[in-house]
Amino acid sequence: MKSIRITIIGTGYVGLVSGTCFAEMGHQVICVDKDSKKVELLQQGGIPIYEPGLEELVKRNVAAGRLRFTDSTADGVENSEVIFIAVPTPPQPDGSVDLSFIEAVAREIASQLVAYRIIVDKSTVPVKTAEKVTETIRRYSKAKVEFDVVSNPEFLREGFAVEDLMKPDRIVIGVGSQRPVAAMRDIYEPFEAPLIVTDTNSAELIKHAANSFLALKISYANALSVICEAAGANVQEVARGMGLDARIGTRFLQAGLGFGGSCFPKDLSAFIQISSRLGYDFRLLREVQRINSDQMERFIKKITDTLWVLKDKRIGVLGLAFKQNTDDVRTSPAIEVCRRLLAEGAHLRVFDPQAMEKAKALLPPGPQLEYVESQEAVPEGCDALVIATEWPQFTGLDLTRTRNVMHTPIVLDGRNLFDPEEMERHGFIYKSIGRGS
Ligand code: UDX
Repeated sequence: MKSIRITIIGTGYVGLVSGTCFAEMGHQVICVDKDSKKVELLQQGGIPIYEPGLEELVKRNVAAGRLRFTDSTADGVENSEVIFIAVPTPPQPDGSVDLSFIEAVAREIASQLVAYRIIVDKSTVPVKTAEKVTETIRRYSKAKVEFDVVSNPEFLREGFAVEDLMKPDRIVIGVGSQRPVAAMRDIYEPFEAPLIVTDTNSAELIKHAANSFLALKISYANALSVICEAAGANVQEVARGMGLDARIGTRFLQAGLGFGGSCFPKDLSAFIQISSRLGYDFRLLREVQRINSDQMERFIKKITDTLWVLKDKRIGVLGLAFKQNTDDVRTSPAIEVCRRLLAEGAHLRVFDPQAMEKAKALLPPGPQLEYVESQEAVPEGCDALVIATEWPQFTGLDLTRTRNVMHTPIVLDGRNLFDPEEMERHGFIYKSIGRGS
């Protein structure tokens, strides 16, 4: 393989994982971040995010001299041939995307350009951003040097980011000319994945279109769960039967509390806003959003229908992260459930294997909220237990002990982790999603 000198600007979930995996594959990587405290932490071997497998990979590649961290963009631009932009593109209140970080980095790169460079948009950006980045670099570069802008969207799932990057289903490269294609192929050659080369606008649209479709699949499963409850059917069985059709597939068809995280809600709103700006009203995706928020309302109603008065009730909540395998609580359905129960005056005992610290920054501290150090301790003295995140270890809960320590044996399972018949055998009043009445 040919080792390429790469700079990644932005060491968040996408930038840090991408840079580390590029180094693992033999490339020479500089990770740049303007937050010098974060750079210092990384230089000392610290990892600012929880991603299974990442810490060991960073340590190994720093030790091998293939990966280093700096807060200097000049250093990165001067000492690499391909510069990836992996800075945040946060949502604005109206659903549009805040591209100010992208523009700032493009201007900074422009000010440092003295020789041909390939600039790659890795962040999730609206269609036509590569054109804007090209215009910006041309406008702000002092020396009139040649460069190419490439779109290379990422498809990493949080909690599985290393796995998803090391074994990608596909690599998408959007270019405005053939010149950067060879270097991009060299970068991804060791990953042995299908690589498609297209134009930048199509590459940018693939990301929003893919994420919105995955969210649509989840909302379809959640809509099915409502029908299944009314019909006395089991949504997991329906999803299994559907998913065995290779054209549908079983993944992202699990009904639950609805999707959350820093991507689906943001990308869905962005795609609706982008489409509207292009003159198309994407009503289908607005319905995906409605079903998702409706799913949360239905679950809260399930809790109040079962418990009647929530004020002063003691409720255990298992899970705070937006999904398993991550410490991320951004737009977490579990956090929303906690907020709603606290607002009703309930007293919560909460646990999450990874997300407790980040949850403390989001949930209002006070006598109604207790962080508990183990999943087994959560149900003690509770009137009900809520399963809010699909951490697999929650299925290891000792059901006999849980039944004995609870004040009333009521379990509301927002992620269908438990088996209804087994829960009934253990004497629980058990409610879940889309599995009969
Ligand atoms: C997503 C996309 O999967 C990834 O390709 C993209 O790069 C970033 O956005 P992520 O948001 O990290 O990744 O998590 P994901 O695993 O997709 O789950 C998103 C949400 O959907 C979570 O809240 C999860 O609980 C929920 N979900 C997922 C379901 O409710 N049902 C499912 O079947 C799958």
